[in-house]
Amino acid sequence: MDRIKITGGKRLKGTIAISGAKNAALPLMIASLLTSDTLTLKNVPNLADVLQLGRILRNHGTDFTISGKRPGKKQMQGETFLLTSRDIWDTTAPYEMVSKMRASFWVLGPLLAREHKARVSLPGGCAIGTRPVDLHLEGLKKLGAKIELEDGYVIARAPRGGLKGGKISFPLISVGATHNCLLASVLARGETVIENAACEPEIGDVARCLVKMGAKIEGIDTHTLKIEGVDQLEGAVHTVLPDRIEAGTYAMAVAATGGDVFLEGAVPETLQAALDLMEQAGVTIKVKKGGIQVSRGRTKLKPVHVETEPFPGFPTDLQAQFMAMMLRAKGTSSVRETIFENRFMHVAELMRMGAKIALSGDRAEITGVDELIGAQVMATDLRASASLVIGGLVARGDTIINRVYHLDRGFERIEEKLSACGAKIERLSE
Ligand code: UD1
Repeated sequence: MDRIKITGGKRLKGTIAISGAKNAALPLMIASLLTSDTLTLKNVPNLADVLQLGRILRNHGTDFTISGKRPGKKQMQGETFLLTSRDIWDTTAPYEMVSKMRASFWVLGPLLAREHKARVSLPGGCAIGTRPVDLHLEGLKKLGAKIELEDGYVIARAPRGGLKGGKISFPLISVGATHNCLLASVLARGETVIENAACEPEIGDVARCLVKMGAKIEGIDTHTLKIEGVDQLEGAVHTVLPDRIEAGTYAMAVAATGGDVFLEGAVPETLQAALDLMEQAGVTIKVKKGGIQVSRGRTKLKPVHVETEPFPGFPTDLQAQFMAMMLRAKGTSSVRETIFENRFMHVAELMRMGAKIALSGDRAEITGVDELIGAQVMATDLRASASLVIGGLVARGDTIINRVYHLDRGFERIEEKLSACGAKIERLSE
């Protein structure tokens, strides 16, 4: 199993090109199930999750290729994926696949819309919480789906003639349930209204791609989506939007180590809440043409308070990295995690490096320390791993991060990007 070794203490300086967003690439790939034509996706990040979803889609009948890929050639940033689901020959998404990657549960909506039936394994819990799917199922029922649970599987059927439009009003905001219901409703007969929809930029990106494919959607980027179902969708070419979580992670890494880095391709509007908070903490943020410049001199950060919220609030996916950054503040900062009930797994690992963090329910108090000290730590989930990288970058001595596969699920070529900015970071392959 690969590990990452970081020798901390280097300030970061240079340019980091931001990859395409994983959380947009996954539902965009799933959208290819809605048409028999080819969906071409550009700027797809080369990540373990994305390749795994490619395998899952192949299982359903999607012809999935990566354009211009020459064996033995160094991986390029931003691959072009061609996905053609001419015939769907299997509407089952088995446990072995869905349990590896939760987002694959989102095939349920499109399979139901196009094939009128689907059998998809329940994803099960994961390290950051129970993560139920009740909202997905209730939403699809509003479109006429009949749903039963059997042996850990969701067995779903559309009414005769296919799904029909309906009114979905989510009691709480869910990114996944919004994706699932949006992807189902574009082929449903009549109008669907989704109220209290998530409006994360990745949902907007998927909706815009669906519109290119012929879908009729109003209210994109708002909490109310209005969809007029169409009989069929066509192929399209779409470029995946830049990854705001990757951009935010590197911004926080620079804030933690000090230095000056240009985040090429980062879109400020997609991470405004995080940028505002960093400015409050004393980080210099300059929005420039084509990206964001982030810098911090020798002065210590000021403590700040943050609560995670659905977009446009501060993202839960940056909470762990924020905590690692605030270990460099003079004083005590605090975090309230409102999205997931168990998303503080990184705390125990950061404390192995000398972090001073007090946990109480959904709250954490982070007190700045004079220094962190390198240690052996374990990545527990994707974003938690990124906080350990930040910890390692500022710590004195060597940090070894075990279970790096979590990191590989969501961060493209992280050691290469950080090394290019002066970090001492290497992958130890076994
Ligand atoms: C997505 C993101 C993940 C991010 C999260 C919140 C992807 C691939 N993943 O995950 O990176 O951290 O949004 O921004 O895009 N919930 C229910 N019932 C449901 C569905 C959700 O109670 O049926 C709850 C969840 O347990 C959680 C909250 O709603 O407490 C938000 O979850 P949701 O927005 O659905 O997260 P994901 O789509 O799983």
